[in-house]
Amino acid sequence: MTKITVRASRAYDVCIGKGLLSHAGALAAAVLSPCRVLILTDDHVAPLYADVLAASLRAAGFVPEIYTVPHGETSKSLSALGTLLEHLAEHHYTRADALFALGGGVVGDLGGFCASVYLRGIPFVQIPTTLLACVDSSVGGKTAINLDAGKNMAGAFYQPHLVICDPDTLSTLPPEVLADGCAEIVKYAVIGDKELFSMLQRGVCPADERIITRCVQSKRDIVERDEQDTGVRRLLNLGHTIAHAAEMLSDFEISHGKAVAMGTVTIMRAAVAHGLCPKDDLAALIALTQQLGLPTECPYSTPEIAAAALSDKKRSKNTLTLVLPYGIGACQLCDLPADKLQAFLEAR
Ligand code: NAD
Ligand code: GLY
Repeated sequence: MTKITVRASRAYDVCIGKGLLSHAGALAAAVLSPCRVLILTDDHVAPLYADVLAASLRAAGFVPEIYTVPHGETSKSLSALGTLLEHLAEHHYTRADALFALGGGVVGDLGGFCASVYLRGIPFVQIPTTLLACVDSSVGGKTAINLDAGKNMAGAFYQPHLVICDPDTLSTLPPEVLADGCAEIVKYAVIGDKELFSMLQRGVCPADERIITRCVQSKRDIVERDEQDTGVRRLLNLGHTIAHAAEMLSDFEISHGKAVAMGTVTIMRAAVAHGLCPKDDLAALIALTQQLGLPTECPYSTPEIAAAALSDKKRSKNTLTLVLPYGIGACQLCDLPADKLQAFLEAR
């Protein structure tokens, strides 16, 4: 087992290792006293892994209950949050009890936000079962639900008490969902890890423990420097201005991972057009993105993307902070007047 400690407003371990799901109870017992545990999961993950987790928790003295939401982005909603909160209250969960999120980024984001607001905060454990959740969403404490006004519009920074990542659970992922996680791995590589990029080029399996560990270490390093996302953490938004716009325009038909892949290629294309990034690096990014089964073209026009990005309600000023790739492994933040986004992306 690899243990990575994240020293944020709460210090916690990310435990990574094959077969860890059946040891989750013992791992949890090292940080939590025996208590009731609500296992939040979705209807795809529940039949695969919820019983193993519940049995392991029971064996360690916890009292688990499985709570299942429908799979998919629609569960990151105000109504799903409300129903979950009412369930916790009706069943008399206290601040001594805990919420465990077993699943992908959707249950992690929903569960984390719920844990942060229920009784002003109860212990929370992330057990990611998608590659995207293993390498990104389960670490760093961003939690959120979507509002009609936009994605992740209501949320909190709420660090988990523990993250347990068992790569064996990734064996049941549909290839499409596995590919979504690859987009976030490529993101880490382009931001600052050339060696990770070449490991993927060489065909190392993206679900390999070494790859997951490398990504979690990168995320740990960034989150420890900027937990509240006011500086260097914004590098993790590489490709995300375009990605969030594409997700919203498609009514979430385009998954987050695929949107990130399109966004990353699109922003590097613009960087090349502006003479900021070598052409060869773009060619390498496109080849790797295709090799990983991800899209490199955005199905929306630049004016559509720019309009959707500018309508993002989280934008505080008339300035956008773009993450610009100067090459594989070299990105920088750059402020751009919002009304210049379309022209910037249209450059050829
Ligand atoms: P997801 O949670 O919707 O999972 C994708 C699909 O895989 C679902 O149908 C799910 O039921 C299924 N699944 C999960 N684990 C499985 C397994 N082991 N075997 C078989 N099927 C399995 O999607 P995701 O890609 O994990 O997460 C996307 C969400 O994460 C988005 O809402 C995005 O905004 C969010 N996100 C959050 C952060 C953060 O820092 N909090 C970072 C990146 C993304
Ligand atoms: N996934 C982006 C972040 O955690 O900041």
